[in-house]
Amino acid sequence: MSAPVLETENLVKVYGRGESRFDALKGLTFEIHEGESVAIVGKSGSGKSTLMHLLALLDEPTSGVVAMDGRPVSQLKPAQVSALRNDTFGFVFQQFFLNANQTVLENVILPLKIAGVSASERKRRGMEVLEQLEMADKAKNKANDLSGGQKQRVCIARALINQPTVLFADEPTGNLDTATGEVVEDILFGLHRDRGITLVVVTHDDDLASRCDRRLLMQDGLIVADDRGEAAKAAGAGVGQASREGSRQVGGHGKHAAPATADGQPASGQDTETGTKTGEGQA
Ligand SMILES: Nc1ncnc2c1ncn2[C@@H]1O[C@H](COP(=O)(O)OP(=O)(O)OP(=O)(O)O)[C@@H](O)[C@H]1O
Ligand SMILES: [Mg+2]
Repeated sequence: MSAPVLETENLVKVYGRGESRFDALKGLTFEIHEGESVAIVGKSGSGKSTLMHLLALLDEPTSGVVAMDGRPVSQLKPAQVSALRNDTFGFVFQQFFLNANQTVLENVILPLKIAGVSASERKRRGMEVLEQLEMADKAKNKANDLSGGQKQRVCIARALINQPTVLFADEPTGNLDTATGEVVEDILFGLHRDRGITLVVVTHDDDLASRCDRRLLMQDGLIVADDRGEAAKAAGAGVGQASREGSRQVGGHGKHAAPATADGQPASGQDTETGTKTGEGQA
């Protein structure tokens, strides 16, 4: 199996203090490998976004370690962390709103502006990524004038402009109708498949979760299941291991269930596939 790109050790996050203290993450230890697609699932308030923010180096843990390519992030200087984040990560987070009054292209090339890329190169790369997402014809439109699905595609375009190796998405299909959600989903998995991008996605959508190589189920600040479907394994990094262990179908592809309820109540299937917790083993 490929090297871990992200590792955590006994990761703890506590919000507030005294009577308002809340233990959002209670000691998580796991690895995410290069080229994996990982769904983080679980009920509202279980700690999914908190975990995602720590993994994406947008927030710091109360205690414990986040390591990137084997190196604890706490050993890096703040400027190094920012550079790492800017060079390596892409974000599709709902709270990272588009600037409504800027054009689509302006929104997409913002990370390049921050990185100091020249205007002509920004435009070239901006148009390239918009073409990939079939949004080039909207480049000059104000972001405000787009449909929900189009806005989400602009967010993805912006997340891709720096050619990240890890893409974090928090509820990427959460506010979309089923059809548009599928388009966004296909884009994400296309990137995963074609460019080997590591995908870490928080979702309440069972269908999206089942397409991932692996599902981490969170409950009250803990990971209570780490489920790697056999089929997903075989389709994943293309490592030969899967065949050895047979090909029991877990969480099939292509079945497009209705999305979970809008505000985060998980649809029924959070118990994932029973008893299929497999092979952490030989990492
Ligand atoms: N800044 C904060 N201060 C205090 N408590 C917080 C803060 N941010 C999150 N929490 C609490 O931590 C817990 C986990 O929140 P988190 O946002 O990670 O949940 P989530 O699993 O992403 O939920 P959802 O599915 O609703 O998005 C919640 O109980 C939340 O109220
Ligand atoms: Mg959340």
